[in-house]
Amino acid sequence: MDPLSLLQLPRASRPPMPLAAAAAPLVSARLSVSGGARSVRRRRRRRAAGLSVFAVATETPRTEEQQPSPSGEERFDWLDQWYPLAPVCDLDPRAPHGKTVLGLSVVAWYDRGAGEWRVFDDACPHRLAPLSEGRIDDRGRLQCVYHGWCFDGAGACKFIPQAPALGPPVHTSSRACVASYPCVVQNNILWFYPRADPEHSDVLQRKRPPLIPEIDDPDFVTVYGIRDLPYGYDILVENLMDPAHVPYAHKGIMRGIRKKEDPGRVDYDKEGGGPVKMKIEQANIEGFVSPQERGYFQFVAP
Ligand code: FES
Repeated sequence: MDPLSLLQLPRASRPPMPLAAAAAPLVSARLSVSGGARSVRRRRRRRAAGLSVFAVATETPRTEEQQPSPSGEERFDWLDQWYPLAPVCDLDPRAPHGKTVLGLSVVAWYDRGAGEWRVFDDACPHRLAPLSEGRIDDRGRLQCVYHGWCFDGAGACKFIPQAPALGPPVHTSSRACVASYPCVVQNNILWFYPRADPEHSDVLQRKRPPLIPEIDDPDFVTVYGIRDLPYGYDILVENLMDPAHVPYAHKGIMRGIRKKEDPGRVDYDKEGGGPVKMKIEQANIEGFVSPQERGYFQFVAP
């Protein structure tokens, strides 16, 4: 498969709270967002360069994955991860953007007062209208489209139009706040961490999203893309680990496919399939690295 960075985000029933990870099973999951970034070294350095592949994918977390492993093996914590929402170049800072990740409906919007992107629960605390259907008001706040409540970059309600000016300050109630998730822009991608509890607000100090150095390297050209893919992340990962399909499934659209050397073989086809050497250099619960003929594959879970 062509060097790709892919993420898949299955849509499932939205859990009532971010930490209620027992979302719907994957069986009927439709991927609501997927994205890719491809970094290719410029031609003049291509020979000396290594191409890298990052496959970043998610699966709806299941309740049993939160339980200790009976075998004592290390468990992957799906909620202690950073997830990419979108390349920033695809996000219009003048409007909110709804996304679904891990079964969570979230809204990304640009807080121009702070000069930062924000990621909130995509549900207004008033009547649960999707905030992604709202707008950025003239003060740079996120305004709900239903009754006009306005929220600042921390998720605090700053204005309830229907509340009398001389009445109680109902907008200061904690029940008027919207959940705000840790988020960061890295590699020109907006990432978020799917825990909105205050104890995770400084998660960046402890853990950052996986870094893809080539994206920030001016010697590389990066192409971003987002696609809906109607299957689970596990199918994608299998696909990325299966280079033998490339000459056939991508016949005619992949450049540079060469016949594999196979001493003793007399029966070649024109597509160029043949034995594929694979070597796993590193592998652990967080992914693997596999050197390739030109560069390497690196999978970073999830
Ligand atoms: S539902 Fe958002 S202001 Fe009423």
